[in-house]
Amino acid sequence: MQKPQQKPKNPCFSSGPCAKRPGWSFAALEDAALGRSHRAKVGKAKLKEVIDRSKAILGMPADYVLGIVPASDTGAIELALWNLLGPSRGVDVFTWESFGSLWAADCKKQLQLPDLRVFSADYGQLPDLTQADWDRDTVFTFNGTTSGVRVPNLDWVAADRRGLSICDATSAVFAMDVEWSKVDVVTWSWQKVLGGEGAHGMIALSPKALARLEEQKPRALPRIFQLNKGVYEGDTINTPSMLCVEDALDGLKWAESIGGLPGLIARSQANLKAIESWVATSTWASFLAKDPATRSSTSICLSTNADAKAIAAKLESEGVAYDIGSYRDAPAGLRIWGGATVETSDIEALLPWLDWASQ
Ligand SMILES: Cc1ncc(COP(=O)(O)O)c(C=O)c1O
Repeated sequence: MQKPQQKPKNPCFSSGPCAKRPGWSFAALEDAALGRSHRAKVGKAKLKEVIDRSKAILGMPADYVLGIVPASDTGAIELALWNLLGPSRGVDVFTWESFGSLWAADCKKQLQLPDLRVFSADYGQLPDLTQADWDRDTVFTFNGTTSGVRVPNLDWVAADRRGLSICDATSAVFAMDVEWSKVDVVTWSWQKVLGGEGAHGMIALSPKALARLEEQKPRALPRIFQLNKGVYEGDTINTPSMLCVEDALDGLKWAESIGGLPGLIARSQANLKAIESWVATSTWASFLAKDPATRSSTSICLSTNADAKAIAAKLESEGVAYDIGSYRDAPAGLRIWGGATVETSDIEALLPWLDWASQ
């Protein structure tokens, strides 16, 4: 096969930090409140704006709260685990790839929860979600970034649950429909679907999760992990980067300009479709996700007998695609980010290059 002529305009296909939105340049950061206190009126207003725009785009119920926290999604989800889980209620963790496994390991080894059940599945599959006992607290990842397996929906979550449903949704929000009535805690980071910068996380809490925080005697925690009420108004635990804040605002405004959540979901679905059409005729690549209903439209993971590492290296050196090798703990293969900031035309331009590099 001859070398394709046309390269993707943007070769960034990383699963995080993800590609900047189309048309992004440093000019997007010109209004950043640099050199100003994040507690000054101007700084605090920007933090609040991130919270308010995120809530509006995601259609968060009015009685849920949303805060900006340190340490990206890892910080946000660990903050939830350490503040909310405790001896008063058993905990179930569902895991099917690296990140869920990390949360399960922390529940076991670090938090040493006395009544813990872990339901796991291999890369490419989901565990048996019907095992969930909604009298207990439940922890799960909406979209497993390292296996490309997502939960198809939240129908399996009981509406009348007594326990909390705690969801790491960092590679799902702004690309998939997260049914708010089925989740009590949702976490994500700016560096994912909207193509923001690393280091900052978001945590959304339902009234039930807030009530748990009030009624449970807090563990001794480092200050950086102590959830306080002000967080939900933009009173962050410690100092955020106002440059990153400006960039997050830029991503949110772009999301609004392309039709909000439906627009974001449509773009991601179009990216998955382009890859699905190609896989359907491919002789060397298939989806790692076994069930099409569980195929992620963001972290699109492919299995192959070809030398995936060599393909990724070749395409990087050609300036065609960066960071498309599978995650270090995942089975060897390729992983192409299909979140909303990636143009479908760039995915389409990449596909012939994959065939070329696989020979
Ligand atoms: C599902 C999931 N959880 C957690 C993380 C960790 O995110 P962060 O680096 O933003 O802490 C990632 C990063 O890829 C992820 O995909």
